[in-house]
Amino acid sequence: MGSAEYVGEQLAEQLITQGINTEVHDQPNFSEINQENTIWLLCTSTYGAGDYPENLLAFVEDINQVDDLKGLNFSVIGLGDTSYDTYNLAGRNLEQLLLSKGAHRIADRLELNILDEQLPEDTALAWLPSWIEKVSSI
Ligand SMILES: Cc1cc2nc3c(=O)[nH]c(=O)nc-3n(C[C@H](O)[C@H](O)[C@H](O)COP(=O)(O)O)c2cc1C
Repeated sequence: MGSAEYVGEQLAEQLITQGINTEVHDQPNFSEINQENTIWLLCTSTYGAGDYPENLLAFVEDINQVDDLKGLNFSVIGLGDTSYDTYNLAGRNLEQLLLSKGAHRIADRLELNILDEQLPEDTALAWLPSWIEKVSSI
């Protein structure tokens, strides 16, 4: 419904303002996205009963098919709602999937509970400097 997309856009804008080369992929196509010399900041909500949102389905399917993502650095932002038993399961599963392929998690997952967040993008923007610091040290 747009919250994760907006969080991603706001973070990208801030990264670009700081001179950090940034691309946004709303409908990520695995074969078109670099894995080396880059960092993936994956921002996803959870739908259904712990499912990935539709825009990630093909991407996750492609990641499932690859043997190894050892050169990849990533971290995950999950948007969810704690009234679901499957709170933030898509973000958690995505992180586990990438770890299982050998990718390197550069920062703890940021989880945004939509019930607590008036403006999830503001919480994400407040978190961003600590993330940039971690990125700078790798
Ligand atoms: C039909 C439906 C199912 C949902 N299922 C879950 C869920 O299983 N776990 C969860 O944490 N949040 C769930 N949510 C909450 C959404 O993840 C949350 O509202 C999120 O902010 C939506 O992000 P979006 O605006 O980018 O789509 C669900 C929301 C809807 C409408």
